[in-house]
Amino acid sequence: MGFPINRYRRLRKNENIRRLVRETTLSVDDLIYPIFIEDGQNIKKEIPSMPGIYRWSLDRINEELDEVVSLGIPAVLLFGIPSYKDEVGSDTWNDEGIIQRAIKHIKKNYPNLYVITDVCFCEYTSHGHCGVLHNHDVDNDLTLENTRKQVISHAKAGADMVAPSGMMDGVVKTIREALDSAGFYDIPIMAYSAKYASSYYGPFREAADSTPAFGDRRTYQMDPANRLEALREVALDIEEGADIVMVKPALAYLDIIRDIKNNFNIPLAAYNVSGEYSMIKAAGKLGWIDEKKVMMETLTSIKRAGSDIIITYFAKEVARILKNG
Ligand code: PBG
Ligand code: ZN
Repeated sequence: MGFPINRYRRLRKNENIRRLVRETTLSVDDLIYPIFIEDGQNIKKEIPSMPGIYRWSLDRINEELDEVVSLGIPAVLLFGIPSYKDEVGSDTWNDEGIIQRAIKHIKKNYPNLYVITDVCFCEYTSHGHCGVLHNHDVDNDLTLENTRKQVISHAKAGADMVAPSGMMDGVVKTIREALDSAGFYDIPIMAYSAKYASSYYGPFREAADSTPAFGDRRTYQMDPANRLEALREVALDIEEGADIVMVKPALAYLDIIRDIKNNFNIPLAAYNVSGEYSMIKAAGKLGWIDEKKVMMETLTSIKRAGSDIIITYFAKEVARILKNG
């Protein structure tokens, strides 16, 4: 068989038949919205390289959260921007730190919103690296000791889930042991298992004030050239107790998403990162692309590649389109 018996255009004739044969659909259920919370008062500061995304202080965060909740977005991922930084990022385990106060505020005012916390140090260290420095590099095991304290503090504040993003070896096992030994058996871990040393994080580092003061993150984040290593990272994180694994960034790594989907049976998240967001926004602003359509196509493609969950700065816009058309 073949042409002229087989004609694929028959099933593309109109929107109704296209809906019936559509393989991938985006849903608000898939979305996690990242939020930047800065210590201070009366802050709603747009991030220049991320139009539509703001740094919020806690006294104004309800403006943002009301919208998130009314759009039906199930979860937020919190990043804190502290007023105090030091060599080791000790404010990450301060029970009255910015992120701890944010968790408490959100769980009190929006008990049904699922709160995930980013577990790292770069926004809290004076040098901007993701842990404790030793000989001009991040010391893996010393950093893990502080990660223990950080996750316990997040859990005590009421976090629903923790998401370690620093790419330290053994971090998932360390967190699982720390949480379990403190009785937090039911807090899941979303592991940034395949996180690449990517230049797509540029706008985020402006947003979160976390640019490394020297060097880069290539001794801890993955080499963009590597595929098999991502599978090993995922296998190890699952063994160490990860509940959800993640690929980050998403777009330049759709092959990695698909590989993981095909090889492992575990919920998979993809982080549609800041640079991916900014490129679409910038081209949209210039009138070079249809921003909304490119956004929907991009997120649908991330889902088609195999991710169950998408962390995206577009979450509110997508949710609005899915709701109102
Ligand atoms: C911190 C962290 C980063 C992102 C999430 N957590 C930046 C980095 O690793 O430098 C990037 C998110 C984005 O670009 O949207 N470890
Ligand atoms: Zn970090």
